[in-house]
Amino acid sequence: MIEKGLEAFKRGEFVLLFDFDDREGETDFAIRSDAVKPEHIVRMRKDGGGLICTALHPQAAKNFGLPFASEILQPTHLAEQEGDIPYDRRNHSSFSLWVNHRDTFTGITDIDRALTVTSLADQVKRTLNGGGDTFAAEFRTPGHMALLRAADTLLDQREGQTELSIALAEMAGVTPAVTICEMLDETTGRALTKENARKYADEHGFVFLEGKEVKEAWYARKSA
Ligand code: 5RP
Ligand code: CA
Ligand code: ZN
Repeated sequence: MIEKGLEAFKRGEFVLLFDFDDREGETDFAIRSDAVKPEHIVRMRKDGGGLICTALHPQAAKNFGLPFASEILQPTHLAEQEGDIPYDRRNHSSFSLWVNHRDTFTGITDIDRALTVTSLADQVKRTLNGGGDTFAAEFRTPGHMALLRAADTLLDQREGQTELSIALAEMAGVTPAVTICEMLDETTGRALTKENARKYADEHGFVFLEGKEVKEAWYARKSA
């Protein structure tokens, strides 16, 4: 399934990305950010219903000067500490800042969010190819797109959809900026179960991938 998933991901289609049974146990929509159109934002907010975020490669986040939110909020004493997250006591969340592209109006509409996300991908591509820093000229914070900064060593360090999605992008050979959104279940008030997420994937022709498959492929490639 991983090869099918990578092909679909490369083509700019959604893949449904479950993390692990012993972690969040959630399934996120995941799509390469440079392929996002307003209709993708619509599907994520209507059929996903979670928080729409964009995960960034760690080197790009560093080049942009994007911190982890938990780090810069430490002086407030409200900041999340290592150990706070019940399903992952070794790590803090991957939340960084929230941005809007400067050409957006409110920032929240489907058109605005698609613009922010595709422009983020442009900036990631630019900086990873050695381009100069134009991030602050393009974006402002606060904004309506939550940015997630992947851990420095990706899956060696953290196993969230943040790292899984960036690992997918690397394996697919595409710009490592990935837009994700959790699938929730409005009938139960909980996350959509893995079974129901799989059913949704089958019904809509999306590839469903589990974190364990992504991890296996990632480490197989690293050791090859
Ligand atoms: C942002 C989240 C989601 O869980 C998302 O999947 C990214 O986080 P993580 O890398 O921890 O899985 O919290 O809404
Ligand atoms: Ca999370
Ligand atoms: Zn997650």
